[in-house]
Amino acid sequence: MSALDSNALVAVIGAGAMGAGIAQVAAQAGHPVKLYDNRPGAAAQAITGIDRQLGRLVEKGKLQGAAREAISARLQPVEAIEGLADARLVIEAIVENLQVKQDLLRQLEGLCGSDCILASNTSSLSITSLAAGLQRPQQVVGMHFFNPAPLMALVEIVSGLASDPAIAALLYETAKAWGKKPVHARSTPGFIVNRVARPFYAESLRLLQEGAADCATLDALLRDAGGFRMGAFELTDLIGHDVNYAVTCSVFEAFYGDFRFQPSLVQKELVDAGRLGRKSGQGFYRYADDAERPAAAELHSQAHAETCVVEGQLGVMQPLLQRLRDSGVGITERAGTGLIRVGDATLALSDGRLASERARDDGLRNLVLLDLALDYQAASRIAISWSADTSAEARDQAVALLQRAGLKVTGIADLPGLVVLRTVAMLANEAADAVLQGVGSGADIDLAMCAGVNYPRGPLAWAEQIGVGYTLKVLDHLQRSYGESRYRPSLLLRRSQAEGATLLTGSSPV
Ligand code: NAI
Repeated sequence: MSALDSNALVAVIGAGAMGAGIAQVAAQAGHPVKLYDNRPGAAAQAITGIDRQLGRLVEKGKLQGAAREAISARLQPVEAIEGLADARLVIEAIVENLQVKQDLLRQLEGLCGSDCILASNTSSLSITSLAAGLQRPQQVVGMHFFNPAPLMALVEIVSGLASDPAIAALLYETAKAWGKKPVHARSTPGFIVNRVARPFYAESLRLLQEGAADCATLDALLRDAGGFRMGAFELTDLIGHDVNYAVTCSVFEAFYGDFRFQPSLVQKELVDAGRLGRKSGQGFYRYADDAERPAAAELHSQAHAETCVVEGQLGVMQPLLQRLRDSGVGITERAGTGLIRVGDATLALSDGRLASERARDDGLRNLVLLDLALDYQAASRIAISWSADTSAEARDQAVALLQRAGLKVTGIADLPGLVVLRTVAMLANEAADAVLQGVGSGADIDLAMCAGVNYPRGPLAWAEQIGVGYTLKVLDHLQRSYGESRYRPSLLLRRSQAEGATLLTGSSPV
């Protein structure tokens, strides 16, 4: 399947933030583009705005002046919808309302040629519902860009029940030709990104609600240990709590109240208070000119850690060993179950149990649990928690060892799975369920999370790195701790572990 010819006329409907961005992308790829909005003058105004954006690219030396002129010349405002009759592809980016979009698609079907492709940029409506009642529902496919469309690489190509796979394939190739990273998705609530990303917000909100640590500390851990660009609180402050909460509620309702997607009372309270984030001046953080960003909590130890004993393989934490060695710590290695002993303390990677529970069940004295890091060689911070009977001296020795390796050490309350491990396990769980249910292939889902929301590693690849069996164990322990279906492990993780299969195989559903 090849991409749409670059001479083919693309029509974009809706000249708001998304429509203008999509029109720019198509024109930059060489297509003649017609932009229409039912607000008089809006399309022409948007094209002036695009030209200004292109001018900035010229100033920065990222675009030639002649190219700017050629792109702008390809963009044509249209004041009456009838002007779109000759389009080969129409992408609608109008208001997010099922009835209004259905009416528009019906009108376009009567207006445009019988082979015209009707794409929708909807982020939450079902493509199946949008196409229902049309004469040619097979020609309706989702083309979900991310904001801002000229900068964000991901495009979800979303197929409804009636969508023609050949048209989905053509739009996939077209998005690629436009310089994007497309993925195929089946039309299910939240498609890929808005579904798989839910636990990223939900786990931090839950940890905050349960007193694990404050917002600044939890954000710092997701950034400095998890490698995410932003923590969940700073990110939802940026997105806007009204928007983020509404997406969570819509996915929760669409899945008939599956507790996996349960919205957070903590976030609801912010919405109720009008603390919508940056745009209202306050969310989890304050954004007044004089507002200071609170610092993340950190433990400091005066103890000295010159040597430690490593018992067995540390699994995903193994690179920490080299880091300790590079910091001059003398290491004795012996057989065992993946523990680090320093002074009276025993350190271990969390497996999703409470520290106190694991200390009791496994007979480990002075237990200190470590969180997951994206890269134990490069991380600048790590979270620890400890058992109720861990002595202050032993904890101090554990902190001293990690400090010696150049890590900032943050203590959090004894909650299952700490912060990064628990978040990543739940992201992988959701991604696995999406694969199991045929929403997308494992490779596409991982790509979507990296290209669409800048995750440092795809959730499924991350689960493979941690070990599918280990990820499953963490989730099993989380579910046992909470007794909630929210933490139930995906059948795909269990099956992959049993079969010794990878999570990243499998072709696209369309
Ligand atoms: P927006 O409110 O900035 O722009 C919508 C434009 O559509 C307005 O200019 C409005 O005048 C026009 N419009 C409304 N009804 C129309 C009709 N019947 N015919 C012609 N024009 C009409 O909205 P935005 O943010 O650009 O979103 C547009 C679509 O893109 C929605 O479906 C939204 O869910 C989706 N989307 C939005 C993202 C975002 O971050 N804002 C990201 C991805 C998708």
